[in-house]
Amino acid sequence: MGPGLTLVGVGPGDPELLTVAAVRAIAAADVVAYPVAREGAAGMAATIASPWIRPEQSLLPLLFPMVAGAEPRRQAWLAAADRLAAAVAAGRVVVLLCEGDVSLFATGSYVLLALKQHHPSCPVRLLPGISAVAAAAAAAAFPLALQQEGLLIRPTPESPAALEELLALAARQQWVLGLLKLGHRWAWVRPILEARGLLDQALFAQRVGWPDQLLGPAAAVAAEEQPYFSLLLVRQGWPAVLP
Ligand SMILES: C[S@@+](CC[C@H](N)C(=O)[O-])C[C@H]1O[C@@H](n2cnc3c(N)ncnc32)[C@H](O)[C@@H]1O
Repeated sequence: MGPGLTLVGVGPGDPELLTVAAVRAIAAADVVAYPVAREGAAGMAATIASPWIRPEQSLLPLLFPMVAGAEPRRQAWLAAADRLAAAVAAGRVVVLLCEGDVSLFATGSYVLLALKQHHPSCPVRLLPGISAVAAAAAAAAFPLALQQEGLLIRPTPESPAALEELLALAARQQWVLGLLKLGHRWAWVRPILEARGLLDQALFAQRVGWPDQLLGPAAAVAAEEQPYFSLLLVRQGWPAVLP
């Protein structure tokens, strides 16, 4: 394989959920890049892919601070794009590991946009991964969408009023919801689900695919802050025609 960058979806959680293409791309790489939230941190995607990384491969941790401010985030995306493009220009085969799917609320998408803008001649390809929503649905045998239903995957709304509005809209439109970035919002999300009688059928999924995975009806999870790697699947009804 010639020099170039491959954005590789890994996990989420379980290294067995990498595609054959992902494992092959990692095996063929000279440089394995991965996001870290802090200098020296292990990196979630790198931890997931670690069984497939060989000691002789160069590791390139890229810092993406988890901050709200626009400027530090922009700088991090540009710096990452510069370093990846430089490695490719030096003739290296490079992979950037991304947790879950590379195109869904993913660091890989920002890096891709920065590369297109600042290093348009850098060859880039993407290998899709399994999204946390798909992994959670499969682990819990939770049908994601059937027949005329829609599936809306998005961050958990920022306020109780916005969540109420979304739930009402989803019920009218027959949308199943996959709510990401649940974490600290769970403390006020739970009472809203309870008031709407949704706690038993909503699926709470935390750290899916990791040894400490927590998966089950939302009713079983206390109304307190939860880790960032938590999500909710909310189905408010079923199609009329079912087995
Ligand atoms: C920035 S998004 C990344 C989404 C990822 N690219 C995907 O395809 O699933 C991070 C959010 O995804 C969800 N998430 C990612 N991995 C997860 C896991 N293993 N278990 C539960 N939720 C997860 C959480 O809601 C978390 O806040």
